[in-house]
Amino acid sequence: MEKLEFNNLNLNKLQELKDVLCSNKLYIDNEYLYKIFNLENVDESQVDEIKRKISLFDSVNLDFLVTPEKCFYDGDTLKCVASKFIKSSGTINDLAIRKGVSYALDNIIDASKKLRKLHYCGKNIVVGDMHFDNIIVDDKNKVYFIDVEGYGIEDFKPTFIPNVTSGFYDWMNYRQKRDINMDKVSFLLSLFGVVFEKNIMSIGEYAYDEKSEQLTFLKDLKEVFEDLKYTYHTVPDMPYLYELLPKKVK
Ligand SMILES: Nc1ncnc2c1ncn2[C@@H]1O[C@H](COP(=O)(O)OP(=O)(O)OP(=O)(O)O)[C@@H](O)[C@H]1O
Ligand SMILES: [Mg+2]
Repeated sequence: MEKLEFNNLNLNKLQELKDVLCSNKLYIDNEYLYKIFNLENVDESQVDEIKRKISLFDSVNLDFLVTPEKCFYDGDTLKCVASKFIKSSGTINDLAIRKGVSYALDNIIDASKKLRKLHYCGKNIVVGDMHFDNIIVDDKNKVYFIDVEGYGIEDFKPTFIPNVTSGFYDWMNYRQKRDINMDKVSFLLSLFGVVFEKNIMSIGEYAYDEKSEQLTFLKDLKEVFEDLKYTYHTVPDMPYLYELLPKKVK
């Protein structure tokens, strides 16, 4: 991890990324994507936590994990992080919306295997903000996990969790435990979200079964769907998505 002066970063030489869903300002050059923290969305204590843990990612060597390589400081304050820019990529959500969930399913399954790899890489990683806008796929069909600054790593708990997950946990009276099981829940919630275009609380049994006729993999997920929806107070233990599906899904 390289530490640099924010004042020496010449934004005029970078291109602003305007067409992506993002709460921070993003710029790119040929190699890197620069994220400048927007204090209206990320509060100072969160940036401070990111600052304290960020160098821990240096020792994580997973080729699908896009980790910050440069940090830009204004005095003691972390203002910006830069990670490899993955060219010609789009998020899993974009892909599923543009081309359909069936089209994106292989990538989603691949991502669920990578989620397990992350969890078991030995660094006590918890994603926290686990959703399909934080996973991208490039034009060679390679899946990457991005937006890692908010991850939990070693003794740090994740800084963020998805709104969908916190809404669902409140609704179900689930105790919030920012652990790997929460990531597995969030992953499945993202999938149900993209399939039904609504959150799990508003998906009825009938709509579920009807959709399962079109997207048959949903039949293999019916049990976890019911577990999630009808187990109040205790968060059920969730499998990784790939564990639920037969080896080759058409
Ligand atoms: N390394 C990268 N290569 C290519 N595209 C990227 C990369 N990092 C981020 N993006 C694109 O920018 C978007 C926003 O990035 P990211 O999730 O890191 O920002 P964020 O500020 O945390 O956004 P949010 O708070 O909305 O989650 C991603 O959904 C993706 O489309
Ligand atoms: Mg993000």
